[in-house]
Amino acid sequence: MGRAVGSWRRATLACVLVLVLVLVLLAGTRALENGLARTPTMGWLHWERFLCSTDCASDPLSCVSEQLFMQMADLMVSDGWKDVGYEYVCIDDCWMSLTRDNQDRLQPDPERFPSGIRKLADYVHSKGLKLGIYGDVGNKTCAGFPGSYGHYDLDAQTFADWGVDLLKFDGCNYGTQDQLAEGYRNMSLALNKTGRSIVYSCEWPLYMRPMQRPNYTEIKHYCNHWRNFADIYDAWNSVKNTLEWTALHQDSIVDVAGPGGWNDPDMLVIGNFGLSWDQQLTQMALWAIMAAPLLMSNDLRHISPQAKWLLQNKDVIAINQDPLGKQGYRITKDNNFELWERPLSGGTYAVAVMNRQEIGGPQIFSFSTSFLGNGLACNPACSIQQILPTSEDWGLHNWVSFLNIKVNPTGTVLLKVVVIGESPAEKPVMNINKKPSPDIL
Ligand code: GLA
Repeated sequence: MGRAVGSWRRATLACVLVLVLVLVLLAGTRALENGLARTPTMGWLHWERFLCSTDCASDPLSCVSEQLFMQMADLMVSDGWKDVGYEYVCIDDCWMSLTRDNQDRLQPDPERFPSGIRKLADYVHSKGLKLGIYGDVGNKTCAGFPGSYGHYDLDAQTFADWGVDLLKFDGCNYGTQDQLAEGYRNMSLALNKTGRSIVYSCEWPLYMRPMQRPNYTEIKHYCNHWRNFADIYDAWNSVKNTLEWTALHQDSIVDVAGPGGWNDPDMLVIGNFGLSWDQQLTQMALWAIMAAPLLMSNDLRHISPQAKWLLQNKDVIAINQDPLGKQGYRITKDNNFELWERPLSGGTYAVAVMNRQEIGGPQIFSFSTSFLGNGLACNPACSIQQILPTSEDWGLHNWVSFLNIKVNPTGTVLLKVVVIGESPAEKPVMNINKKPSPDIL
């Protein structure tokens, strides 16, 4: 009897230990299993266009205030942005009061956000949209407002109580590298603990890289997207440098991207002042190839029909949001041309040809379809659709076709290549009588 009780106790103890071990392991791996950002986040973010404009007396229409975000939310619905997928209305830096409240919670600037963030979130939600907010892992935000260091749980809970749906977490004023990493991890866990679904947008690798090589597997474990490179400006140089950085680091950043975690090359600046039309086409096309979050920073109250057409182009958005969730990469850089591709679901590829030449007129880039998809994209045949600059059907091609594509300086031609006829029975008859489009020679 005594021995039976003893072994029963031992068995119970073993069970409890196993249970504790399982719980510990689960807690350790639960970091970012929030089920969010299965495709790259789409929305609007105030920073690039509105910066830290806090003087509402002299600039009431452009200062960072609840009115600005309510207007953007209204337009996102009335002007078709929401219908094509833009969902998050995001506040960046400079929304806060310079001090925390008497319970140590972050609070919005009372003049510019008199109704409070909870009310703003309710308003945004009433439009069927989501609200993003901004914080910082260190002692202060980049613009000098209170940081979350030492307050991760409290701040996460405050955001959750307000009904926030996304947190952009900056990395200014972070202290040591260990504090930076701990801070990003702790905020991820704190967000999860609130039980609210909050997309977690990090800048961890950007701040880490000067000192240490980022561990992207770990970063993806904690963040839904992460900035790698300098802030985007409304300038071609900035877009060009972001693309070059991405291509140069593609071996270490492309494979980690996928549903739930994305590399973030920063905001879309289409519809502003600094990019030519061709450069705007390049940004849209390449952000789709890179599976980048599509966070516009522009003034939706004043945007040209052309920029709106580009940002709302459903074919480009479909490439960006492709459910396979693989990030694209640069295949080759040949003189002034760059050839990029992105594998899409169903054996399809998105292909971008960019002309980096900043002098002269349109240039022709010639290449064999055997370059695409490791030789498989057009094997045995494929149909090609031009998506940008305009939508055109380029008809059927095969694995030995040569494409001669004319591209404007700093512009991009974006294509969708659909493989046809895997088995001999399905092999298509080549459409040799089809008149080639003027850009295919
Ligand atoms: C950093 C970020 C930007 C923006 C500003 C705000 O520079 O990288 O995206 O959030 O801070 O101060």
